[in-house]
Amino acid sequence: MVKTIAVLGAGTMGHGVAHAAMAAGYETRIYDVSQTQLNIAVGQVMSILKKSVELGRLSEDDCNATFDRLKATTSLAEAVAKADVIIEAAPEKVDLKVALLAAIDASAPAESVIASNTSALSITELAAVLKDPGRVGGMHFFNPVHKMKLVEVVRALETTDETVSVMQDVAHRMGKETVVVRESPGFITSRINAMIGNEAFYMLQEGIASARDIDKALKLGLNHPMGPFELVDLVGLDTRLSILQHLHRTLGEKFRPCPLLEQYVKGGRLGRKSGKGVYDYSSTRTSARR
Ligand SMILES: NC(=O)c1ccc[n+]([C@@H]2O[C@H](COP(=O)([O-])OP(=O)(O)OC[C@H]3O[C@@H](n4cnc5c(N)ncnc54)[C@H](O)[C@@H]3O)[C@@H](O)[C@H]2O)c1
Repeated sequence: MVKTIAVLGAGTMGHGVAHAAMAAGYETRIYDVSQTQLNIAVGQVMSILKKSVELGRLSEDDCNATFDRLKATTSLAEAVAKADVIIEAAPEKVDLKVALLAAIDASAPAESVIASNTSALSITELAAVLKDPGRVGGMHFFNPVHKMKLVEVVRALETTDETVSVMQDVAHRMGKETVVVRESPGFITSRINAMIGNEAFYMLQEGIASARDIDKALKLGLNHPMGPFELVDLVGLDTRLSILQHLHRTLGEKFRPCPLLEQYVKGGRLGRKSGKGVYDYSSTRTSARR
C-alpha cells in the first residue's frame, strides 16, 4: 500500500504534484537541487491550501494536518529513502532525468514505483538506466495541478501491469481522471498542444494577427478555455521549446520549433515564471508585446 510519495523537482509542476499528494493523505517529500526553489514551492503549496480554507473547502485543522505531511529537502537520499512512489518533475532534459533516475536506483526502496512527469521524452529511455525498468512509467500531470483533472498514465516498453495499476490508484486517490497511453512522443496531449502552440507562434511571426487576437480567436471561435499564448506563458516557453525539439527529432518536420519561440527563449522570455513571455507580467496589468 502506498503511504509515502517523493516528488523530485519543486518547480511549476513539482509543487502542484506535492500538494495533490499531501491533499490525498500521503506523506510527501519534495526534493530540489535549489533551496531557494524549495522555499518558493513550500510557500506555493501553503497558498493553495489557504485558498481552499478561504473557499470553505478545507478546515483550518485539515489545512495544518495536510501541511504537516510535507517535508522539503535538498537531499535526494532523504527524499526517496522511504518512498513507495517517486514522481519525477525535474527539467525536461533527457541527460538530467537519466542521471536523476540512476541516482534514485541507488537510494530508493527496490520495490518503489517511479513515475516521470515528462511531457514528451521517452520513458523507455529513462527507465533503461534502472536495474528493473518494469517499475518505471509516466504520470503526466497538467498545469496547474490542483485544478486540472487529467493524468495521462504512460506505459513504456517494460512497464509492468502492477506499475500501471499503482500509478492509476495514486492518481485516482488524488481525485484525478486517468487515460492509459502507450508510450509515443508527446503522448496524446503534448503532441496536439505543441502543434497548436507552435502554429500560433508561426502566425504571430508572420504578422497574421496580434497575440491577443490569436488567443481571442481560439477562445471564442474554437471554445478553448485559454488561448495558446496564455497557455504557453503558463507552461513556460523553455519547457514548450524542449518538447517541440524532442517532437521534431522524433516525429519530423511538422514539429520544427518556430524561430520566434526560440528567440523569446534566448531572450529570457520564459512566461509567467520569468515575469515576461508572450505577455508582460511585470505590472499588474498584462500587456501583449506584439
Ligand atoms: N510546465 C508545465 O506546464 C508542465 C506540464 C506537464 C508536465 N511538465 C513536465 O514536468 C517537468 C517539470 O517541468 P516544470 O515546468 O515544473 O519545470 P520548472 O523549470 O518549473 O521546474 C523544474 C525544477 O527542477 C529543479 N531541478 C533542476 N535540476 C534538478 C535535479 N537534478 N533534480 C531535481 N530537481 C532539479 C529546478 O530547480 C526546478 O525547481 C518537465 O519534464 C516538464 O516537461 C511540465
